[in-house]
Amino acid sequence: MNNFEFKCPTKIIFGADTISKIKEEIPHDKKILITYGGGSIRKNGVLKQVKEALNGFDYSEFGGIEPNPKYETLMEAVNMVKEGGYNFLLAVGGGSVLDGTKFIAAASKFDGEPWDILSKGATIHEAIDIADVITLPATGSEMNCAAVISRNSTKEKLAFASEKVYPKFSIIDPKTTYTLPEKQTVNGIVDTFTHVMEQYATYDVNTPLQDQWALGIIKTLLEEGPKVLKDPQNYDARANIFWCATCGLNYWISLGAVQDWSTHMIGHELTAFYGLDHGETLAIILPSLWHVMKKDKMDKLAKMAIEVFGANEFLPKSLLADIAIKKTEKFFNKIGRKTKLKEYGINSKEAAVEVKKRFSQRGTVLGEKGNITPDIAYEIVLNA
Ligand code: NZQ
Ligand code: ZN
Repeated sequence: MNNFEFKCPTKIIFGADTISKIKEEIPHDKKILITYGGGSIRKNGVLKQVKEALNGFDYSEFGGIEPNPKYETLMEAVNMVKEGGYNFLLAVGGGSVLDGTKFIAAASKFDGEPWDILSKGATIHEAIDIADVITLPATGSEMNCAAVISRNSTKEKLAFASEKVYPKFSIIDPKTTYTLPEKQTVNGIVDTFTHVMEQYATYDVNTPLQDQWALGIIKTLLEEGPKVLKDPQNYDARANIFWCATCGLNYWISLGAVQDWSTHMIGHELTAFYGLDHGETLAIILPSLWHVMKKDKMDKLAKMAIEVFGANEFLPKSLLADIAIKKTEKFFNKIGRKTKLKEYGINSKEAAVEVKKRFSQRGTVLGEKGNITPDIAYEIVLNA
């Protein structure tokens, strides 16, 4: 196991009807800006619950943060924060709203051009306090310090991470997810699945506990995913899916292990170029990437085939890895997510050319061994 350090300062408040607890967590002297997206929280009553909890507090609202939150929109919020002197941001919505709010929190205190946080990895010395009511199980953003931001003008989608933007607290009320469109529920399951695999399906450095945690999340997704799709108001299934999502990217399963993240990096380009949902890009890239990189991932994929999919442990490893890839693709298809670019009306050769060009320009190499060159990325997208 590799050395590691771990600290997560986020308080998790999990369960039904917990939104009212906001009032116990935010100091009364704070000037609060509630941030949200396109209006789902108005329709499903979540905003109403938030406002009831904030009765007597000084707060305003900033709505309109898009899925794949846009730098241009977020900078409007930054201006509002600076002019209005807000000192607490409460994100209410999915991962995009929360990620966008992490960026607003950092950019509002940033001395210089805020895009540098994303494009140059500029250090964040200070950020406004944030918290959230998360309404979509997918990103794990509620218990991590990362955010992914898109820029319309340059068709870029880039990530940053800073300990300064850990939420102070996150309210996870699974009942808020009853109103999710099926497409978003599926996206969340695929995203969680892929987060786990980015941290698990690399090479072994003797982390059996982390591996079992990872595979435990996958087994739970396989069991509970179909249940929420069949019965969207099944509280227990919603709760289990949400906790899978949070634990899928709160860094526990990656402690001391080796991580990949190339499916995400290639997927981000497909969103930037074609506007595909994050979950869609992952379902397209993960199986193809595993095919191309099978040799590097063989041991972990074989272990997954045995432990998750019940394959015969005496089969050759290469065959076991194939089983893991096929069963994963089958699961994505079963829950309604297509796994081929052409099924989304995108020509894989054209996409491969775009991705290769961009990675070549940036000098990007990916993968746990740093061996996914722009040429290999081309092959992965071409076969997707
Ligand atoms: O905008 P509103 O009207 O709120 O509607 C949203 C949006 O249209 C809707 N929605 C959310 N909760 C709902 C709901 N509709 C009904 N009922 C509810 N309870 O769902 C749509 C999608 O929301 P979005 O926030 O975009 O989805 P998600 O949570 O999947 O976030 C995706 C973003 O997170 C980034 C992705 O790249 C993408 O930009 N990621 C962030 C990560 C992180 N911070 O660690 C890691 C991930 O890998 C991911 O990259
Ligand atoms: Zn993701």
